[in-house]
Amino acid sequence: MSTRIDRPAIDPPLALLAELTHRCPLRCPYCSNPVALARASEELSAAEWIGVLREAAALGVLQVHFSGGEPMARRDLAQLIAAASEHGLYGNLITSGTLGGSAEIEVFAKAGLKHVQLSFQDVAPDNADRIAGLAGAHGRKTAFAAAVRAAGLPLTLNMVVHRQNLRGLPDMIDMALALGARRLEVAHVQYYAWALVNRAAFLPSRAELDEATAVVKAARERLKGVLTIDYVIPDYHARRPKSCMNGWGRQFINIMPTGKAVPCHAAETLPGLDFPSVRDSSLADIWYRSAAFNRFRGTDWMAEPCRSCERREIDWGGCRCQAFQLAGDASRTDPVCALSPDHELVGAALAGAAASPPAFVYRQYR
Ligand code: SF4
Ligand code: FES
Repeated sequence: MSTRIDRPAIDPPLALLAELTHRCPLRCPYCSNPVALARASEELSAAEWIGVLREAAALGVLQVHFSGGEPMARRDLAQLIAAASEHGLYGNLITSGTLGGSAEIEVFAKAGLKHVQLSFQDVAPDNADRIAGLAGAHGRKTAFAAAVRAAGLPLTLNMVVHRQNLRGLPDMIDMALALGARRLEVAHVQYYAWALVNRAAFLPSRAELDEATAVVKAARERLKGVLTIDYVIPDYHARRPKSCMNGWGRQFINIMPTGKAVPCHAAETLPGLDFPSVRDSSLADIWYRSAAFNRFRGTDWMAEPCRSCERREIDWGGCRCQAFQLAGDASRTDPVCALSPDHELVGAALAGAAASPPAFVYRQYR
C-alpha cells in the first residue's frame, strides 16, 4: 500500500464516515444501509480500521463519524475512538442509543470522543417503538441521552420525520430541549435503500410538508441561541435538487463495513462503477485516482441542462443515485430538478403515494 501522497487539484476529504457494521438491534424501515446487509464475518478488523484512521489523518480528513448499523455493536469501538483521537481526528458517534448507557459513554469520552448524535423515531413511545421495530427502544434512548449529558459530551438529536410521525413535531422540539441537546436535526426521509422500498409509507403531502416547515421556522426564531435546528426537506417536493454530499468526491468518503470505499451511502447501487476497498488500495489512491471517485467529480461529466446551468457548481446536478433510481441513468440530471426532462417521474411518485400508508417492510438480513 503506497503512503506517498502527491496532490492533484482536488481537495482532501473533510470527513470520513466509518460504517463499522450493519448489525443493529433496530429495524427502521427508512434505514440508509443497503438492502443487502453485510454480515459480521465480512467486517474490517480493528487493526484494519485503525490503519484507515491513520491514513485518513495523513490525507487531511478532519472528522470521523462512527456509524453503522449500530456502531456500539462493535466491542472494539472505544479502541477505534482512541485511535481517531490520537491521530487528531474529531470523533462523532452516530448511534441509536440502545446498546449501552453511562458505563460505555464514559469510556468513550475518556477515549477522546467529542460529540454524540442520537436518533429518535418519534416523541410518542408506542409509535417510536413501532417504527424502530423494537419494543422499549424509546425508553433506552431517553436514558442514553441523559448519560451523554452526564458525561459532559455535546448532544445532537436526529429526528427522521415523515407522514407517520410529523404531527408530533412541536413535541419533538420540546423533547430535544428537555434532553439537553444543543442541536436538533429534523430530517425528512430521503428515498434510498430501505426508505425507497417503503416510499409510499413515508412520503408526506405538500400540505403536511408546509405545516412542518412553518413549525421549524417558528421554533428557530423562538429558540435562537438555545437550540440550533437543522432542517432537511424531502426533495421530491423541491424545485431544485439538494447538493448531494456537496458534490461527488468533493468532501466525503464513506467506508462500508467490508472496507469498500464509496462517495455516498447509496453509490454501491450504481451499475458500472468498481468501488475500491481499503483492503487493496490506499485511501489516497482511492480518493485522488480511482475511476469511481472521479466518475462524477466536478462538472465535466454533465450533459444539458446542467452543463450550461448557473447552479451547476451549487448543487452539482443533484444526486447521482437518485438520477439512477428514478431515470435509470446516473449521469442524467437529478429528476427532482424542475429543469430535468425526467421531472414528471417525481410527480408520478408523489401521485402514487397511497391515501393510507402501506405496512412497513422492516430492515432485515436476507
Ligand atoms: Fe442543478 Fe442541473 Fe437543475 Fe441546474 S439543471 S438546477 S445544475 S440539477
Ligand atoms: Fe449517492 Fe446522492 S446518495 S450521490
